[in-house]
Amino acid sequence: MKKITLIFGTRPEAIKMCPLVSEARSRGDFDVKVCITGQHRQMLDQVLDVFDIRPDHDLSIMQMGQTLFDIQQRVMDGLKELFEKERPDIALVHGDTTTSFAAALTAFYLGIPVGHVEAGLRTYNIRSPFPEEFNRQAVDSISDFLFAPTGVSRDNLLRENKNADRIYVTGNTVIDALKTTVRPDYSHPHLDWASDSRLVLLTAHRRENLGEKMRGMFSAIRRVVDENPDIKVIYPVHLNPLVRDSAAQELAGCDRIRLIEPLDVLAFHNFMAASYMVLTDSGGIQEEAPSLGKPVLVLRDTTERPEGVAAGTLKLVGTDPGDIYREFSELLRNQEKYNAMSRAVNPYGDGFASKRIVDILEREL
Ligand code: UD1
Ligand code: UDP
Repeated sequence: MKKITLIFGTRPEAIKMCPLVSEARSRGDFDVKVCITGQHRQMLDQVLDVFDIRPDHDLSIMQMGQTLFDIQQRVMDGLKELFEKERPDIALVHGDTTTSFAAALTAFYLGIPVGHVEAGLRTYNIRSPFPEEFNRQAVDSISDFLFAPTGVSRDNLLRENKNADRIYVTGNTVIDALKTTVRPDYSHPHLDWASDSRLVLLTAHRRENLGEKMRGMFSAIRRVVDENPDIKVIYPVHLNPLVRDSAAQELAGCDRIRLIEPLDVLAFHNFMAASYMVLTDSGGIQEEAPSLGKPVLVLRDTTERPEGVAAGTLKLVGTDPGDIYREFSELLRNQEKYNAMSRAVNPYGDGFASKRIVDILEREL
């Protein structure tokens, strides 16, 4: 029986890997092991609880205020020992976090084949997002299986001369997750509070924006909220203390803004489904919003999700406070623009990405 080990450590990786764990386990012809690094703690555990996945190994590496060095070293030390003992036939990693890069590199050093789920996303700006653009390029360069979510990501890999026989277009597993979470009868007290207004859902956490830049982004948002009495904002604040400080400084004390704890993924997807629009610097949310038909203003200078921009759902507004103020105000005011951005489209797949990936592994391993 072939041994598959899936390694992940943060909230978004977990949301996108749990459907794959369930699919691989359902086949019965693999020995499937889940190793979480614990790069995130509470935000990771929330996802595991929703999908009812119990990991076989937990490296528990998270430290408050951890640096990239801390994460890289602790993941590699922990995984070296585990991989040497278990020698999986393939290590599956996801996306672009430091967990993914450190896990892929450890497997590569030990001669264990690597499969990269969500391969081929690119901004081609190595410092944006930082360090994610480096991580995904590096993981792709040492992977034996490249599971590209879309034709765009496949083409990026082909342009880089990756082996065409090892690139598979599968869709994104985030859509598999989304299919199981959104419910028409979902209710929540925060949604009741917002039901008399247009609900704006906000998230922000990018490492390169921490500090002054993020405070500037939040102050622009606060200005728009103050000027538009018919909107309410819900912001489930990332647990990074630097993010929480900026949010508290710029967004607290307004009765139409709720700063709340991170939501579990089932709640978050349903909040998104109930929202009027989304403001975010997140990667995963840019993939979910198109299929829910929710306009997103992307608070970043670059995006590796051009499919959502082409579909009309996403607009890249950057991080300059003046630009954010202008674009956010305009979208609230301009119904035509809003309607054009709020059509449901599905560039990221049909909800069967995990099935395709496991079919490929059954055939090729
Ligand atoms: C990480 C990923 C980023 C991904 C993001 C998803 C890297 C370098 N960054 O960034 O690509 O977009 O996750 O959210 O891999 N914390 C907690 N509890 C938690 C999670 C975080 O307390 O459950 C706090 C800790 O103080 C931690 C800090 O948040 O030090 C930052 O976490 P970290 O994983 O280093 O970076 P993220 O910004 O979350
Ligand atoms: N998400 C969540 N709870 C929240 C905010 C986001 O479950 O309070 C989900 C969201 O639906 C998406 C994922 O977390 O699937 C995105 O994670 P994040 O923005 O932390 O990371 P990124 O995608 O930018 O790497």
